Amino acid sequence: MTIRPDDIGPRPDAPRPQPTQPLVTPIYTASVWACESPDQARQLLEGTLDGYVYQRDGHPNADVLAEKCRELHGAERAAITSSGMAAMSLALLSQLAQGDHVVASNQMYGRTLQLLTVEAARLGIGCTLVDAANLDQVAKSFTTRTRLLVVETIANPLLRVADIAALAELCGRKGALLLVDNTFATPVLCRPIELGADLVLESISKFINGHSDVMLGLLCGGENTWERVPQVLSAWGLASSPFDCYLSARGLATMHLRVDRACSNARQVAEMLAAHAAVEHVDYPGLPDHPDHKLATRQFDGRFGAVVTFRLLGGLAAAESFIKAARRIPFCPSLGEVSTTLSHPESTSHRGLTPHERKALGIDAGTIRLSVGVESSDFVLDALGEALDWTKSR
Ligand SMILES: Cc1ncc(COP(=O)(O)O)c(C=O)c1O
Repeated sequence: MTIRPDDIGPRPDAPRPQPTQPLVTPIYTASVWACESPDQARQLLEGTLDGYVYQRDGHPNADVLAEKCRELHGAERAAITSSGMAAMSLALLSQLAQGDHVVASNQMYGRTLQLLTVEAARLGIGCTLVDAANLDQVAKSFTTRTRLLVVETIANPLLRVADIAALAELCGRKGALLLVDNTFATPVLCRPIELGADLVLESISKFINGHSDVMLGLLCGGENTWERVPQVLSAWGLASSPFDCYLSARGLATMHLRVDRACSNARQVAEMLAAHAAVEHVDYPGLPDHPDHKLATRQFDGRFGAVVTFRLLGGLAAAESFIKAARRIPFCPSLGEVSTTLSHPESTSHRGLTPHERKALGIDAGTIRLSVGVESSDFVLDALGEALDWTKSR
């Protein structure tokens, strides 16, 4: 039988209405949806009628995931993007215009710093980097053109904690918006909108999905921030894929369990590292000597995150020995996976900085960042202890 092009329409394939509903949202791979009339198409595209026309403008899997994340963050609006960086681009492109100015923490993910300082500058948007823990310095960096303050809840890699309520209060006084990258904290530890932030971003690729098989981002905000968001998301091509949204909705279902377990493991790891002779220093907000321990205790309700950073005695040679000896802990420059992974900031996330800039942030060649997973604590402590003992004996 020959199939003519006019036989291949959507109608013969459309499922008949069923008396029961699937428990999980099916994956809607359709890139385009059939409209009934020009009037309906116009209403759908203008957003006056709920529904779908073109996947880049919106699709059910993104909406289902966005709605769950919106609820978790207590936000009025939420959007899913193709990556965490796409969510950061969405925030900047929807809130800022040429001539505007941003104040940002100097301790952030390397690509975020690049986006804010190099790429934004090409669009005529200025950026001043500050120590976000120094509120006076932050306040003094605002200009009459400052529209946005950007910080991470727990900052990479020394795990400094931002005082979100205080920064939100400052932004309110200065007439600027506060954008918080909450990727290291997740909504399990912190819900920045409840503390006064205007916009919250997550790299879903990390803890929310949690299984190392997705790239997605989330932006949440209030109605007052949302006017340009749908158009910017579609016009700049920042939209997500249905399959990734499906996987992330599945990951999200266990996020609380995973993050809880990983934080408990991380706390034990931090204590073990602090007592080991191969280790010079440990950065973990759950340790009493961390500069933000009190703030983290107040802001995070008893959990301190799954990332632990430590400095080995012996610089690069010690780091190389440790990475080689840590056979059960993969060297993966990411975080938030179910398994424990390690990263070496000097050669990965912070390689773009000068040695002087790295030193100012407290990163040297012996610095290792661990993303602690959900394995049994015995496994994690044993795998790390073995590698540390080997490093010490070299
Ligand atoms: C804190 C933080 N924010 C944002 C991103 C970017 O997210 P993605 O890799 O999903 O684009 C990362 C990636 O490592 C990150 O660590």
